[in-house]
Amino acid sequence: MALTVPLALGALLATAGPAAAATPGAPGAGDPYFPLAGNGGYDVGHYGLTLGYDTASGHLDGRAVLTARATRSLSSFDLDLEGLTVTSVTVDRTRAAFRRDGQELVVTPREALRAGQQFDVTVVYGGVPQPVTDPDGSPDGWIPTDDGAFVAGEPQGAMTWFPGDNHPADKASYDFTITVPAGTTAVANGVLLGRRTAHGRTTFRWRQTEPMASYLATATVGTFDVKQYRTADGVQVYSAVDPREAAEADPVVDQLPAVLKWESGIFGPYPFRAAGSIVDDAPDVGYALETQTRPLYDSAPSLSTFVHENAHQWFGDSVSLTSWQDIWLNEGFATYAEWLYSEQHGGRTAQQSFDALYARAATSSLWAFPPADPGSGENIFASPVYSRGAMTLQELRNAVGDKVFLRILRAWATEHRHGNATTAQFVRLAERLSGQDLGSLFRTWLYTAGKPATP
Ligand code: ARG
Ligand code: ZN
Repeated sequence: MALTVPLALGALLATAGPAAAATPGAPGAGDPYFPLAGNGGYDVGHYGLTLGYDTASGHLDGRAVLTARATRSLSSFDLDLEGLTVTSVTVDRTRAAFRRDGQELVVTPREALRAGQQFDVTVVYGGVPQPVTDPDGSPDGWIPTDDGAFVAGEPQGAMTWFPGDNHPADKASYDFTITVPAGTTAVANGVLLGRRTAHGRTTFRWRQTEPMASYLATATVGTFDVKQYRTADGVQVYSAVDPREAAEADPVVDQLPAVLKWESGIFGPYPFRAAGSIVDDAPDVGYALETQTRPLYDSAPSLSTFVHENAHQWFGDSVSLTSWQDIWLNEGFATYAEWLYSEQHGGRTAQQSFDALYARAATSSLWAFPPADPGSGENIFASPVYSRGAMTLQELRNAVGDKVFLRILRAWATEHRHGNATTAQFVRLAERLSGQDLGSLFRTWLYTAGKPATP
């Protein structure tokens, strides 16, 4: 509409509510630890990723179709994408203008998006992906290996291989179509819909139906021995093990049905229709990741790591973070699962694990910062988050008793299944189910610097 409005009145109207002029979406979701992670102004419902990877040259071709909804009127919006070359962007099949600005891909559709509007954005891109280096020094993202790629993304690396809203607060379903040289396997999340080989290349189609945070997506490529079966509960298992790791990995990985059965008994029903493992041979990576439905290991895992990554399917994957500061809700809980598994399988009790840690001197790095306030992205995978996070749960257990404690863990998984949650919500749940004021326990263990005075 070509109305002439005096400038001052125009500005007034622009801030006046429903008729407000569309403005650019924010470049970040507002996370203090990773200010550019995620974006403002829209919500992704689904990612359709079509990828081709040439293991010899390391070249990745990609086409990403995001189905999203504007949460306010937008003249432009950002996607997160680090490196790679973008060749075209369309919004609802109409060519859109775009520019790159660091990890932001800024998209300006031909027409502004209205608040509440559903839209599709298609990005065609390619290049040789490079992992990012996290604040703690770890490689993160698309990490090339001698036979393919180890693809992990916590906290930031998803943007090294697909454009998106790269923050766990925006969960979505995913479809993956991945083409790799024949003889090589591409393993993503969820259920394998099919595989087809033609002209020396194999295409794998994967579907992740339940909502997933972008950092939990994988498209790991390599030479793998594959096992497929169903558990007694009907969960579809797909395990991929690098033959070089098989001798050590198989005895652990083959315990998946037993481990999931034990975890379901404690935490409630397993949250996904698919499960499995990916054991790569990439020990330089230095960590494992709880990629949704199918944890990813850089080498044969110990049983305890295996229990940890699978426990994350409840704590982290199904119940996800709202802010990276709350990372203890993932790592403290998965570590506590290791303790409880040991306790119930003839190993040391959770209290003994607690006591061994509590014996550490006040100068130990274990007490460097409180678990629910790591201070920055550099600390989110440090021992206070894992170990003191788990110690907090042991303190909670001692305060409320075994029965109520287990009820709290299970209610946490149930009430926030496939959602996002915060530390404050966990504290409220624990107080509600125990009927106790737990303010001082949580203040001491989660938020107070230094070694707590009394266990
Ligand atoms: N969440 C992983 C675990 O199970 C750790 C990921 C570490 N990632 C990193 N970039 N340092 O403990
Ligand atoms: Zn973990």
